[in-house]
Amino acid sequence: MESVALTPTTDVSPARILETGMGFFATKTLLAAIKLNLFTELDGHSLPAEEVITRLALHRRSALDFLDALVSLGFLRREGNDRSARYANTRETYAFLRKNSPDYIGGILEMANDRLYPFWGTLEEALHTGRPQNEVKSSGRPFFEALYADPARLQQFLEAMAGLQLANFRALSEVFDFSPYRTLCDIGGANGMLSITLAGKHPHLRCQSLDLPEVEPIARQTIEKHGLTDRVRTGRLNFMDQDFPTADLITMGNILHDWDLPQKRMLIDKAYRALSPDGALIVIENIIDDERRANAFGLMMSLNMLIETEGGFDYSHEDFHNWATEAGFRTTAKVPLTGPASAVIAFK
Ligand SMILES: C[S@@+](CC[C@H](N)C(=O)[O-])C[C@H]1O[C@@H](n2cnc3c(N)ncnc32)[C@H](O)[C@@H]1O
Repeated sequence: MESVALTPTTDVSPARILETGMGFFATKTLLAAIKLNLFTELDGHSLPAEEVITRLALHRRSALDFLDALVSLGFLRREGNDRSARYANTRETYAFLRKNSPDYIGGILEMANDRLYPFWGTLEEALHTGRPQNEVKSSGRPFFEALYADPARLQQFLEAMAGLQLANFRALSEVFDFSPYRTLCDIGGANGMLSITLAGKHPHLRCQSLDLPEVEPIARQTIEKHGLTDRVRTGRLNFMDQDFPTADLITMGNILHDWDLPQKRMLIDKAYRALSPDGALIVIENIIDDERRANAFGLMMSLNMLIETEGGFDYSHEDFHNWATEAGFRTTAKVPLTGPASAVIAFK
């Protein structure tokens, strides 16, 4: 074992430790604002403090502290002071946190508030036991079965997934050359947003969004809403038991990280067998850097898989390359998308 001598110095600061250690103050302030519909209520207006207090049914004791904390965090604008102050959305919160915005990403944050925030409270237990800390812990049922037992929770989960991935789906539609491919099958497609985004951008593509029976009607409605029923079909598929239909492209967004290694390999094998001879598998996840030093969000997403699933974990491009080439794929590539997310692509 190597030992490292660390001499105390005066040129280091505890600020970053404290900022991260107390980071839940900021997290919960933002999540509460979303949960209380603050950004949706503000919409495009600048509202007096009194009106915000009334609309959100806030107790007076800390209403201004709450609103001004959001100002200082950069999530609200304020004109004036104290009770004569008026509050408004910033450009970011107007774009991404109003429920009526087409770019609303609050779904994932609503789920973070209602589920992930309490479940992460027992991270130490998960680290000791290797067991999930979510509904699985109380119900003893498999993750998706436990999650989907409640229709409201199912709806929230699907909206959360779309919020997390929409910017990545858009980025993928711009950066990958879809012209050689005609048919696409999205495995575990949730409410269909990947197929909707790609078919919307590339009129030559015919897509299928496949998921569990409980999810399929929700995907169908979403596709109808986007007017894409002629080019995006839905279907019911249990990818644990069934093979995939043939396609030029198979996509999997945040699928592989839900499962343990044998299950990951089984899904990659199924994709290989279903793809046409020049086809490709596109996987969209928070791919960890090969050195496992830089993508902190990807690494913590893997901890989130500990909290949420029986055996899931996130992985690097190198891991994916090894699994894909062992399944028979010729080669792989990594394409950065937004923030910590990338697409890793395996070519048959
Ligand atoms: C983490 S979500 C990812 C959703 C979406 N692909 C995305 O990128 O946001 C995992 C998806 O896998 C689906 N799923 C879970 N188990 C499945 C199974 N056995 N067969 C088919 N789909 C399944 C879930 O219903 C859910 O939509």
